[in-house]
Amino acid sequence: MYELSAFILDLAQNSLTAGARLVKLWVVADQQANVLRVTIADNGSGMPAAMVDKALDPFVTSKAARKKKIGLGLPLFRQLVESCCGTFRIRSRQGIGTVVSGVYPLDNVDQPVLGDMGGTMLALVAGNPRVDFRFVVRTPESDKTFDTRPVREALGPDAAALWQSPDMLKWFRQELTGEYEDGVVKGER
Ligand SMILES: Nc1ncnc2c1ncn2[C@@H]1O[C@H](COP(=O)(O)OP(=O)(O)OP(=O)(O)O)[C@@H](O)[C@H]1O
Ligand SMILES: [Mg+2]
Repeated sequence: MYELSAFILDLAQNSLTAGARLVKLWVVADQQANVLRVTIADNGSGMPAAMVDKALDPFVTSKAARKKKIGLGLPLFRQLVESCCGTFRIRSRQGIGTVVSGVYPLDNVDQPVLGDMGGTMLALVAGNPRVDFRFVVRTPESDKTFDTRPVREALGPDAAALWQSPDMLKWFRQELTGEYEDGVVKGER
C-alpha cells in the first residue's frame, strides 16, 4: 500500500534542495467536490520553463551525475496521481519558486493511505531549523494546521539555535504527532 506521506516527504525534499526558506503544504479532502487536493509550494530556486518538462522525465536530475543518474520524486508523484484518475500540475518560476499539486477523487480504490503524516511533518520541521513550514492537513484521518513562523517569532533571534533543543523537539513532537515522549497520545492521559 502506498503512503501519501512518503511522496510528500520526497516533494518537500525537492523544495529544500532548491534552497526554499518557506515550504507550504496542503493535504485537504474536499468532501463536496469529492477530491483530495495535495499542494506543495516553495520559494526555492524554481526552474526555467524548459527544465520543468525535463524534471518530469525520470532520467533527468540536477543531482550530481556521479552519485545519481535518475530523479524519481516528481515522476512517481505524477504517476500516483494519474493512476488515481487525478490531475497533476507543476508550475515553477526561476528565482520565485515552485508549486506542485495533485488532485484526485476521494473515493478512488487505488488512492494511497495518508501514512505517518505527523512523523513526516516532524522530520521536516525538526531537521530544518532555518526553514519555515506551513502545514494544512485536513482529511478524514487527520486535522492539523501548523505554522513554524509564529514559533520562530516567539523564540526571537536565537530561534535557529534553540530549534533542536530537547524541549523544542518534545514540543514539536506533541504538536505535530499528538504523541508525548512516552508514546501516550494526546487526550488519552
Ligand atoms: N521544488 C523544486 N524546486 C526546484 N527544482 C525542482 C523542484 N522539484 C524538482 N526540481 C528539479 O527537478 C529535478 C527532478 O526532481 P525529482 O524529484 O523527480 O528527482 P530528484 O530530486 O533529482 O531525485 P530523487 O527525487 O529521485 O531523489 C530535480 O533534480 C530538480 O532539478
Ligand atoms: Mg526529488
